[in-house]
Amino acid sequence: MKDIYTLGIESSCDETAVAIVKNGREIISNIINTQIPIHTLYGGVVPEIASRNHIQNISEVAKMAICEAKLTFQDIDVVACTYGPGLVGALLVGLSYGKALSYAINKPLVGTNHIEGHIAANYITYKDLKPPFICVMMSGGNTQIVYVKDYTHFEVLGKTKDDAIGEAFDKVARVIELGYPGGPKIDSLAKDGKPTIELPKTHMEGLDFSFSGIKTAVINLHHKNPQINKADLCKSFEKTVAEMLIENVKKAVAITGVKTVALAGGVSANSYIRDEFMKLAGETKIYMPDLKLCTDNAAMIASAGYYNYIAGKVSDLTLNAEPDLKL
Ligand code: KG4
Repeated sequence: MKDIYTLGIESSCDETAVAIVKNGREIISNIINTQIPIHTLYGGVVPEIASRNHIQNISEVAKMAICEAKLTFQDIDVVACTYGPGLVGALLVGLSYGKALSYAINKPLVGTNHIEGHIAANYITYKDLKPPFICVMMSGGNTQIVYVKDYTHFEVLGKTKDDAIGEAFDKVARVIELGYPGGPKIDSLAKDGKPTIELPKTHMEGLDFSFSGIKTAVINLHHKNPQINKADLCKSFEKTVAEMLIENVKKAVAITGVKTVALAGGVSANSYIRDEFMKLAGETKIYMPDLKLCTDNAAMIASAGYYNYIAGKVSDLTLNAEPDLKL
């Protein structure tokens, strides 16, 4: 069979990224221009600034991806582009570029769901991984337990009722003055801490989550006792959220009988959470993306786009951005 080169485009938040992936699994090039240093000045992502920077960067990032792959735009077979969920202005930049490129090179456009992309990051890391599996999707905007039935068929078994887990990491880090983005800062400070502080766990019905209670508890503890050991607080926070995640994943495995579990999304880069999930390895097979594929990138979008293309799911030029797109 002829090789298929998919060019992926990602601009849903603060990364402008373009990648080229062969046959959905092999990265040929993967360029990520992150705006983190710009948004750090404001303590979080400023949507208008993100859109403006995507506009400034997208053409150059795409040219770099083509150049690094030693290909030309004409060699691309499929253009896969994130169209949601995310910030509408930011999404529109990548989507408009993707539509223009698909039209110019006369190749199919595949509108790609950002969450499907995070799940697909596992296909790049593990060439042998095939559905069905359970995916714990945990990012800055989403937290859900997904039953991946096939490459393009998903059932959401449970999700957060309030804050996304990454949002909780970022808000806690901001209040205890660790800076932005909070996840990586909590990850490194927690390495010096002990999980000595008892924090509340929310038990929801079924496989749903709630992270606002623990977030508020950590923030209140810090306000009431500014001298509290921040490393211990971070470690206790990580331990409690990891327990909440693992409890629900065990339930998902029991309900579905599927004993393969994959992690996805920015928070799956967390070293403590990765270690805790690895402890389940044995009867359950555990997969987690390479660290550089956990956070936003376009290789994962190219992979998910490829599987949609193979399934005949292509888009036309009327495709619009969908900020609240669901799986
Ligand atoms: O997947 P992602 O790059 O963007 C979304 O699609 O939302 O996730 C970003 C989130 C942020 O909340 C960030 O703080 C968190 O992932 N994150 C981490 C770590 N690295 C990134 N959280 C905990 N530990 C980390 N090492």
